[in-house]
Amino acid sequence: MLTRNFTYYNNIFKDLSLPLAFCDVDLLNQNCQDIAKRVTVKNKTIRVASKSIRCIDVLRRIFNANPIYKGILSYSGNEALFLSENDFDDILLGYPIVNKNEIEQICKATKSGKKIILMVDSEEHLKLIQAIALSIGVVQPICIDIDMSTSFPGLLFGVMRSPLNSVNKAKQFIDAFDKYPNISLKGVMGYEAQIAGLGDKNPANGIKNYLIPYLKKLSIKDFSNRRKEIVDYIKSKNHVLDFVNAGGTGSIESSMQEDWVTEITVGSGFYSPALFDYYSNFHHQPAAGFAVQIVRKPNENTYTCLGGGYIASGTIGIDKQPKPYLPQDIQLTENEGTGEVQTPCVYYGKEQLSIGDTILFRHSKAGELCERFNQLHLISDGKNIGTTPTYRGQGKCFL
Ligand SMILES: Cc1ncc(COP(=O)(O)O)c(C=O)c1O
Repeated sequence: MLTRNFTYYNNIFKDLSLPLAFCDVDLLNQNCQDIAKRVTVKNKTIRVASKSIRCIDVLRRIFNANPIYKGILSYSGNEALFLSENDFDDILLGYPIVNKNEIEQICKATKSGKKIILMVDSEEHLKLIQAIALSIGVVQPICIDIDMSTSFPGLLFGVMRSPLNSVNKAKQFIDAFDKYPNISLKGVMGYEAQIAGLGDKNPANGIKNYLIPYLKKLSIKDFSNRRKEIVDYIKSKNHVLDFVNAGGTGSIESSMQEDWVTEITVGSGFYSPALFDYYSNFHHQPAAGFAVQIVRKPNENTYTCLGGGYIASGTIGIDKQPKPYLPQDIQLTENEGTGEVQTPCVYYGKEQLSIGDTILFRHSKAGELCERFNQLHLISDGKNIGTTPTYRGQGKCFL
């Protein structure tokens, strides 16, 4: 077990230019192995969600860490093309795109032998891809996104994405494929966000935490049957599926129980940001974070740092602000939180903090950290072993 404390990182960081973002590659590697171990059912692979990484070097480290990692779930057309140019292959667009130029470039990449799979959930998507694929003279592989949410009375448990939210709607859509000769149905994806992305011990959720495990159980029963029926129907129509994709970091244990699922997507588990502290069935290491520097002391136990206000996307809530990490027991103030320029922290612990020392935080989400920094400092064995550019550091800002 690798231990990390305030002194470990402060000694490395305090003389560098701050704020900085870092990836602890020893902890990253441990997460790669621990995530792989969670897949205890044979013949399932893990597709890496690049939105939760946003750094080419880290993506390469993940693929080199364990052969279970195969393929990327990409989050934009331009990102898929960028990854393809960087020699990644088997790239599944996780979300539909409708930009003609991007689709055209992807069809051209397909023609040149690359494997980039577009995501669809409606005939509008099919019509657009068909016209472009025909003009390029290629058969474009696609994947259909099926909705995995569960409707309880008065509550939609899940996220609103695909309109294919019933077996019948999915069947009708699959029947339409005959009209599109330049499209080939190669995969099915269903993202059960309400299992994968919802912790059951997030303090921000209060008493809802008691209800969440129960709703998760009911929901798994509901959508796994639906997924099976849809996959069976596709196969009965003589489509040859390369993959059936499910889940995310928080649903490995349930997604792998479905025999018809061939691969599980994982992204957040590699950096294991703050929101992934709140699951009772797994725990990964905090492999990424950022360091800010103490620049002033407004009073005896308050240490004010320069910068720090890197708030995460999603519904507004206290759990979207960065989480104080080290030294242990350091706290934010309720009045100011993490500020645009100044972040006051309150600390009564045993470390002797001085102006110039660092305070460490973890972003609430995974890849968004990389949108705030041009590079990640790579930390291993008590040393800064170098830096590597984030997407932003390569001049790339996809979403
Ligand atoms: C389509 C899809 N699959 C899987 C995931 C899970 O990724 P993570 O492991 O980062 O939670 C997401 C996250 O939003 C997603 O949108």
